[in-house]
Amino acid sequence: MQNTDYKRILVTAALPYANGPLHIGHLAGAYLPSDLYCRYQRLQGRDIVFICGSDELGVAIMVRARSEGITPQELVDRYHPQIEAAFSGFGMSFDFYGRTTTDVHRETSQSFFNKLAEKDVFVLKTEAQLFDPEAGIFLADRFVIGTCPVCGYEDAYGDQCEKCGTSLSPLELVNPKSTLTDATPELRETTHWYLPLGDFQDRLSSWIDAHPEWKSNVLGQVRSWLKDGLRDRAITRDVPWGVPVPDEASSKAGVDATGKVIYVWFDAPIGYISATREWAIKKGDPELWKKYWKDPDTKLIHCIGKDNIVFHCLMFPAMLMAHGDFVLPENVPANEFLNIEGQKLSTSRGWAVWLHEYLEEFPPDLLRYALATMLPEARDGDFSWTEFQNRVNSELADVLGNFVNRTMTFAWKNFDGHVPELVAPSRDDQAVLDELAAFPGRIGSAYESFRNRDAVFDTMALARLGNKYFNDTEPWHTRKTDLQKCGNTIHVCLQLCASLSVLMDPVLPFSATTLRKMLNLWGVKSSRPDEQSEGSIGWEHAGSSLLDASHMLGRPEILFKKVEDEAIQMQIEKLQSAGGDKSQESSTSFVPIGSEIVYDDFAKLDLRMGTVVSAEKIPRSKKLLQLEVNLGFESRQILAGAAEHFEPAELVGRKVVIVANLAPRKMMGLESQGMVLMAEDRDGKLTLLSADGEDGAVVR
Ligand code: 2FM
Ligand code: ZN
Repeated sequence: MQNTDYKRILVTAALPYANGPLHIGHLAGAYLPSDLYCRYQRLQGRDIVFICGSDELGVAIMVRARSEGITPQELVDRYHPQIEAAFSGFGMSFDFYGRTTTDVHRETSQSFFNKLAEKDVFVLKTEAQLFDPEAGIFLADRFVIGTCPVCGYEDAYGDQCEKCGTSLSPLELVNPKSTLTDATPELRETTHWYLPLGDFQDRLSSWIDAHPEWKSNVLGQVRSWLKDGLRDRAITRDVPWGVPVPDEASSKAGVDATGKVIYVWFDAPIGYISATREWAIKKGDPELWKKYWKDPDTKLIHCIGKDNIVFHCLMFPAMLMAHGDFVLPENVPANEFLNIEGQKLSTSRGWAVWLHEYLEEFPPDLLRYALATMLPEARDGDFSWTEFQNRVNSELADVLGNFVNRTMTFAWKNFDGHVPELVAPSRDDQAVLDELAAFPGRIGSAYESFRNRDAVFDTMALARLGNKYFNDTEPWHTRKTDLQKCGNTIHVCLQLCASLSVLMDPVLPFSATTLRKMLNLWGVKSSRPDEQSEGSIGWEHAGSSLLDASHMLGRPEILFKKVEDEAIQMQIEKLQSAGGDKSQESSTSFVPIGSEIVYDDFAKLDLRMGTVVSAEKIPRSKKLLQLEVNLGFESRQILAGAAEHFEPAELVGRKVVIVANLAPRKMMGLESQGMVLMAEDRDGKLTLLSADGEDGAVVR
């Protein structure tokens, strides 16, 4: 049963891998949304704990350490503080930022594992797995790449295809290759613990069905997983970096677990629990974490990016259900991906905006605000530097900053820096104060339901209302004709500024503090955990007057400086020189001619004419079409990566050229018996290669 009357909230933000610096995509996926939510809830006076930390174990860390020629421990010791510093620079208001290489984490993960082992939740399987004979190591997760069986992406990892998000096991990859040595792996037997997710299918389905309020992008992905049926997932690995499989579990199973560690996607979410334990220890109340994880009056929220949905909506909840002592998440508001200047963010191509570099150039609030207006909440979003500049200059500076500035300077010039009294307010004055009263509720309900963009648009709407009212009431005019009327305008404007200093705080925390200093407004609750403000002014008070008549203001300051064209141009050039602009490349240059072959190489190809007799989409595959091609003397089933270019019906009856002697291979559980030739133009568009010969005719 759903509990709607929670006493406390626990928010987790996905633990970033400590294998590189943070970029803007990180911020847009999990971190800015979770920070907005937590700051808003603190201003509401709610009991809330916000947990994050570095994900320091697993193969992603080992791969990166290897490429940098250092140990995994050295790698995480380098990146953990850098990541923490970037988060702090952006004002991420975690109550605790932990790491998964601590003793508390090892102990918490092992006792979780043991508990599931005691309850006989796991299944043990001895199976052939990919083994790199050159490196002498089993190839788990990111130690192996190959073609994704779902979308055909050629560099899919052994644990997940980063193109289509499908979670994979190394054996599912087509043409697997070791990322350590490039060797083609061989099969060797090994024993592992599996979490039989299928056993949880019914419970997970009913639990998901009880949450129709979740975001549709999340429900869509989860339901498609459930529809396909959940499979057993190996939750141990033969790699030398991770939480060791605990002795209790290995003796219970009678398996020698030497060299085996717990799979990183099993231990990482437990990292939320261990970081909460460490938070409690730091607070001097080591048992306090239990209240947040075990008491059903806790509302647990996981903030993540879309590539983490399956782990947080199915795997971790199954683990929590199996364990039995912990609360389940109440919501998992995952965001989609953020593109940059119309292209997919790619750290390997350098197509990224790095947070530590941004912080050297601009104040954090500018990106917090601009990004909040572009968050990929329902579909992939796009960040562009010119849009960033527009949001800063024409909204932060021209609307919000301008409203505050004209109000403050007017109050200093005409009322000696005091709040004028409101006497016999006009209908216009009262109408604005009445409108103001509705803003905390409206913005708050957007934050409550993870509609952060709406919340931020509504926040700016309050500043727009202020500017309009200032213009309509013309205080520069009434100053000479009716000083009381002028005073009323400035009184109302100052109340709007004071309310804004609370309502803008989640998205613009640094500027909100500056604004409160300008207004000499103290006593507002803190949206940060470490400033234990005794403040009594909270979110709901921001709909009413916060400044008394005659209150003495502080000195005005410029809240937001405009961003110059040159600064934006520099950022665009920096991005392009680091990442190259693929879109421009594709429209001007052709793929270079491949290396020379001799006639005998060509003669190995058996190319034949054929006719497509049927074509259909393959469920769960964006790219592949299943074709039946008649060669005259026989018929072939061929999977073609053409679903994004043709409707199946368009292909039926078309003459095609196929490679008839290509070794069959399996994709999506179906055998492909050949390849249909197509031409790919510079924009990646496919057309069929066709001729008029009879079916079966040899193409030379
Ligand atoms: O995708 C990632 O970056 C993972 N490190 C997220 C882990 S979230 C959690 F489960 F810890
Ligand atoms: Zn894929």
